[in-house]
Amino acid sequence: MPAVNILLTEAQIEERVRQLGREIESDYQGKPLTIVAVLTGSLILLADLVRQIHLPLRVALLQASSYKGATTSAGALIINEAFAPDVAGRDVLLLDDILDTGHTLGTLVHRMHERGAASVRTAVLLRKVGRQEVHLEPDYCGFVIPDAFVVGYGLDYNDDYRHLPHVGVLDESQVRDHP
Ligand code: IMP
Ligand code: MG
Repeated sequence: MPAVNILLTEAQIEERVRQLGREIESDYQGKPLTIVAVLTGSLILLADLVRQIHLPLRVALLQASSYKGATTSAGALIINEAFAPDVAGRDVLLLDDILDTGHTLGTLVHRMHERGAASVRTAVLLRKVGRQEVHLEPDYCGFVIPDAFVVGYGLDYNDDYRHLPHVGVLDESQVRDHP
């Protein structure tokens, strides 16, 4: 298995996710929170984060993929909303693993408004520096990271590495089509 250089340890992520949970909890007191998680990358973050939010909440899932090649690129976004049924009148928190160009979350924020959400906020574990093309300030952000291709804690390369408990940078020589 190619080398992964650890960028964020399991302990660092755990602590930060706990803090984000506390922030979200205090912001959504008395509001009908629906967390809409973007598959597949946010799956592990979702599982850890919801257990840190001690409020009634719903979980919904949708799938968005913008992959052209094995890594990331600004290909056409394909959205599958089959598991995100009812957001009308709800306060939606969109959850994704990483904010890269911003096309995914930008499009989904728009989509949630179209579907009648009462409010839409965004949360990401990671935000990559110097890659953003769509103007969007995430409301909750775990870590700002340098422009490198990262894997682990949900993030994949060719559908591998998602299960790593840490976030790491994949050895450059292993990543072929990252721009
Ligand atoms: P955006 O639309 O460019 O912001 O892309 C967001 C999506 O691209 C994320 O949900 C990830 O699935 C994927 N992505 C972006 N950067 C990385 C990375 O460094 N590693 C793994 N996936 C990434
Ligand atoms: Mg993703």
